[in-house]
Parts: sequence; C-alpha cells; structure tokens
Amino acid sequence: MTSAQTGYSIARRSDDPYRYQVGFGNWFTSEALPNVLPSGQNMPQKNKYDLYTEGMNGCPFTAPRAQNQHNWLYRIRPSVAHQGITKSAKQNPYLVAEFSLNDPKQSVSPERVAWRPDSVPANERVTFVHGIKSMAGNGSPLLREGVVLHTYACNASMERQAFVNSDGDFLLVPVAGRLDIQTELGRMMVFPGEVAVVQRGLKWKVSVPDGKAMGYIQEIFGMHYELPELGPLGASGLANPRDFEHPVAHFDVDQSDWEVLYKLGGQLWSCAQDHTPFDVVAWHGNYVPYKYDLDAFISCGSLSRDHMDPSVWTVLTARSKTPGVALADVIFAGERWDVAEKTFRPPYFHRNTATEIIGLISGDFGFERDFAPGALSLETGFGAHGMESDAYDAASDMELKPTKILQGTRMVLFETSMLMCLTEHALKTSRRKESEGGHKGLEAKFLKHKDLILKDLKAAGLPPVAF
Ligand SMILES: [Fe+2]
Repeated sequence: MTSAQTGYSIARRSDDPYRYQVGFGNWFTSEALPNVLPSGQNMPQKNKYDLYTEGMNGCPFTAPRAQNQHNWLYRIRPSVAHQGITKSAKQNPYLVAEFSLNDPKQSVSPERVAWRPDSVPANERVTFVHGIKSMAGNGSPLLREGVVLHTYACNASMERQAFVNSDGDFLLVPVAGRLDIQTELGRMMVFPGEVAVVQRGLKWKVSVPDGKAMGYIQEIFGMHYELPELGPLGASGLANPRDFEHPVAHFDVDQSDWEVLYKLGGQLWSCAQDHTPFDVVAWHGNYVPYKYDLDAFISCGSLSRDHMDPSVWTVLTARSKTPGVALADVIFAGERWDVAEKTFRPPYFHRNTATEIIGLISGDFGFERDFAPGALSLETGFGAHGMESDAYDAASDMELKPTKILQGTRMVLFETSMLMCLTEHALKTSRRKESEGGHKGLEAKFLKHKDLILKDLKAAGLPPVAF
C-alpha cells in the first residue's frame, strides 16, 4: 500500500520515486491509511482495524528530553510474532564488531594505510548484508561505545529477508549504485552523493535497482548521530535541518515466509516468520531513518587569510562518553570557493589527535593518483601528513585569485577521536595499497639561506649557529 498522506516532501530529486517528511529531529506522524493513529493517547484498548500497538525506543526511558528518541508503531502483527531465532547458517566472515589488540588478527598502523575500492565477483550473488567488509574500528557494541568503518559491495537485492543491526547505527555513503531501502517506517531511495542513517534495532532491507552497489558505512555503538552545534556561526548553515528527508508510512500485505537477519555482536542470527516485517500501517515518533543530499551542504570557510579547521564542514556528529569529545564526525568536502589571500591554500602539514579516514564518492582525490571513488585512506592519530613537494611548490607560488575548488568532487572524512584497529581483512586484502613511506622530495630549503641567516644573526648581536 502506498501512503495516503499528502504534502510533506520538498522534492530534491525528480527521479526519486518516494515521498518524505523533512526536518532533522522532528516528532513525525505518518499513516498509510486515514485516521489510524489514535487520538490523544498512544495505547488504546483497541486500535482501528485491530492493529497492534508496538513501542520501540532508541535510548533509555529517562534519557534527557533533547536526546530522548522513541516510536509508536501500529502494525498488522507485533514483532514478537515469529518462529524463533537461531544462529544463521550463513555468516559474513568479514563482519567485525569487537576491536582489541588482544585479538592477534587485528593490528594498528602508525603510518597511513590505503585501500582500493571493493568489487563483487560477477559469478557470485551477494546481498548488502553479506557484502559488508569491516575495515577498522574501536570499541564494542557490548560496551555501547565505539565506531567502525566498513565498505560494502553487493549485486543482489534482499528478497524476503530483512536486516536488523542490533549493534549500532549505520551511516551509509553510496559511491556507486542506488540503495532502495525499505524500513518498517517507510521507504527511501538513497543515491550516490547522499548519505543515509538507519538506527539500531529497526528492520530494513536493501534492494539494488542498478544491479550493483558499492560504498562506505560508518557504524557507531551506543550513540546516535546529531547535527553539530553551530556556535558563533548562528542559526543556519552547514547541513540545514529541513534538508533531512524521512520516510512516510508504507505497509505491505504479505503472508509468505520471511527471514529477519539480526547482527548482534557482529554475528548473524536468523529469525523466521510467516509474514512480512514491513506491516506498519501508521507510526509516530522521532527514532526515524533519514537521508541527506550532500550537495545541499552549506560550506563555510575563511574569507580573509588562513584556514578554518575542517570541523567547520561537519555534516553529522556523534558524542563520545567524554564531554566535548566527538566519537565520530562525518565531514564533507565538495565544490566551493577558495578565496583566502596571503595563504598557503592546500592543507598545511599537520599531525592531529584524531584518526582521519577519507572516502571519495566522486571526482578527484587531488592529493594522490590512483585513488578512485570507493578507495579508502586511514591516517592514525598524530600521523604526519601534508602535500607532496611538487604540489607544495606549486601552491607556494600560485597566484591567489578566487578559485572554485573540488569541482565535481565529493569527499567524506570519517573523523574519530578513537584509535582504530585494522581488521584481518584490512591487513591482508589485495585491495591494500603498498606503503609509500613518507614524502621523499621535501628538501630542507632553509639550508640554502645559510649566508643570510649568519648575516642576520651577526647583525642582531647573536652567536652563529653551526651548519
Ligand atoms: Fe589531515
């Protein structure tokens, strides 16, 4: 059944078959049949059409109001109407949820690591859940804190199979191929260039209308994504709340056999039931999946000299349990003007406390040849990085006119305060690029100024230094 609702969507794409409700963090209401939502209460003695009431929450009952997220679902059958849960006979051996150096298969890397894009073998049918490969992570879903970076590559739609991530929230970043996502709360078509979030505990399935799909996933344990504070920027800018699109109620009538696949502790568990899990006729709540078109992002930057920190391009953030420290920041770098005067405009040489993971959705990476969309770069905390010598010299001598940069490029930086363990797959895969070592061509230009330095010291009445 299609939603009978009217008038919510701000159509960002004419080729999107679905309608949405907009506004980040809203309390949404949606009904696919008229007047199903109970009036003035959440759990009437009887619902219209004998629908069952089901509550679900995404945080503890007593979480502060600003973080409190929960839903009321009115569905044909409650989720407990199933035939039991068993360990799935088909596991995904690339899924990792526990990250620790106590696992001898995992390791850290003090130097930058990079991987080529993943692909799916043509002669093998791979759905979204079985196409996920965990690359690096920190923490544990059992401890309810941590972050994981996965890639996915798949070539088959999930048919009568739904997925529940009981470990954490997924932020999906398609690089190639649309993801047609059906959730209990409705449907979303997620295009390359958009990101989508599906929260922990929700039932959903992924179809691949383009025949195959590939991209990145950031998973967070124990937290949910939120919009960053804007501070002195004021009320608007960066990702505006009205550009986040949430599904409208949609239900199927389907009494055939279904499987619901749960990811719990990185293991897959199979739940059989004799009807579709997508049978929610109406719902209201604020624990709702959403998508966001990165081209809607309002970039800020320096209008005079020097750089702003890249935190100014944060699309979504998730708190850690340490006040003021983000568990994960999702940062977007796309087409924008570079206008700073008297400034070395590319990224300056730096060593940051954060772990910086870069993914490319489209265009050129700019800093490295052979870095295609879908490739991945990981720089561990305090890893030294910056421009190669040719690019450094060019940027030092360039004429500083206002310049449109990153044209056609969409880059996502998955920044985290955590140190990341590399998985066995990330360490051993043939996708891993050979280490390039440090930059070779950066000469000590300072030494060329020996005579002038000695002269200046003498003029200042200071002793010479030894060259
Ligand atoms: Fe960096």
